[in-house]
Amino acid sequence: MRTTAVSLLFLLVQFQDVFAAPTQVPFDSDLVAKRPPRKLRGRFLHLTDMHPDPYYRVGTSEKSACHRRKPKKAKPRAGEHGIPFGDCDSPFSLTNHTLDFIDKKWSEEVDFVIWTGDSARHDNDRKLPRTTKEIYELNRAMARKMEDVFLSKGVPVIPTIGNNDVWPHNIMLPGPNDITFQYSVIWRSFIPFPSFQVFQRGGYFSVDVIPGSVAAISLNTMYFYTSNKAVGGCEVNDPQDPGNLQFDWLEVQLQTFRSRGMQVWIAGHVPPSARNYYPECHVRYVELSLRYQDTILGHLFGHMNVDHFFFLDAQEVTHNGQARSSDALEEDEQDVKKKHKDLYGSLLKNFNHSSRTRTCLPSESSRTIFLDHPTFQAISVSLWMEEGQEAPMRHVLIV
Ligand SMILES: *[C@@H]1O[C@H](CO)[C@@H](O)[C@H](O)[C@H]1NC(C)=O
Ligand SMILES: *[C@@H]1O[C@H](CO)[C@@H](O)[C@H](O)[C@H]1NC(C)=O
Repeated sequence: MRTTAVSLLFLLVQFQDVFAAPTQVPFDSDLVAKRPPRKLRGRFLHLTDMHPDPYYRVGTSEKSACHRRKPKKAKPRAGEHGIPFGDCDSPFSLTNHTLDFIDKKWSEEVDFVIWTGDSARHDNDRKLPRTTKEIYELNRAMARKMEDVFLSKGVPVIPTIGNNDVWPHNIMLPGPNDITFQYSVIWRSFIPFPSFQVFQRGGYFSVDVIPGSVAAISLNTMYFYTSNKAVGGCEVNDPQDPGNLQFDWLEVQLQTFRSRGMQVWIAGHVPPSARNYYPECHVRYVELSLRYQDTILGHLFGHMNVDHFFFLDAQEVTHNGQARSSDALEEDEQDVKKKHKDLYGSLLKNFNHSSRTRTCLPSESSRTIFLDHPTFQAISVSLWMEEGQEAPMRHVLIV
């Protein structure tokens, strides 16, 4: 899917004060282990869909994915930091500038970083098709930057695989395979050693981010995603389906964290909606999420390039494993596009004041309210904040 040129989500979430007291002991990583324990800040950061594009050229046309040609007079030109809400990916000047800004202002102020994928450009230019090598190189560059900015300061980073982090996009066979192997190498410093073997099979892992209190679970949503035609989609009669194996693993994780008296953030790239997930995967996701509401603090996803949250509603899911045909399923692409356009407009308006006053949305309270509801749970509930006059932060927007 096409995205805004600058689709980088910057979320800060304050979690309960109860976790803000102890000193943090970082997880097992060479880079982290050398550093003294950090004091907890009570916040974390969510970054997603950075889509760096090495072919981006300033002054080119949006039609060429900002790779070539001058645009017609009335059309916008590729700017220094991208074309807001356009069809081009992010120039490195934007991703670098943004991460440098976060490095300076925020990297010491957060306890961990959830990073929900798509760290390569889109396949949006027939003249410059992507290659597997390029995708891994872009991911490697972004991973090294994340190491510099966060891990080197003892801040754990939790990456997840996006649908554009594989070639061809959307398609991922059951592991172990070259993709799980490559990412196990690229993300070596982010994945704790005991999780390595599981990661090489499925591309998912869990890690204590505040030992004894809070963990993060990185899901591989490629095995649930309707566009991944290489898998069956959690078919009930196929226990070896990679989506089913992942849910089996997830349940064991949730059980273990619950028995340790811990709580978890669940992270992934493609969010769990009836439109995005195979019906049987969707059912399993909703069922597990509701059953473990006491253990799950929240769900953080990327992919949609729209800052929003939605509810997991058990009543939307029928007993035979089919998601009831919801409005979302019947909407055609045009409707969705129009809604996104409207949303961008209202977001621009709603967040306009925040460019001066540094504002947080009180959506954390929504989670607290709905968490107790017997049939649904909010997704990706987070505080959104923007720091005033720094130019690139105006591009750091909404997924
Ligand atoms: C972005 O940062 C990387 C790593 O620090 C550097 O190698 C690269 O040259 C930078 N690119 C731009 C366009 O600033
Ligand atoms: C943002 O606020 C400024 C000053 O109040 C105003 O001129 C501008 O039109 C607003 N932009 C949007 C998108 O609402």
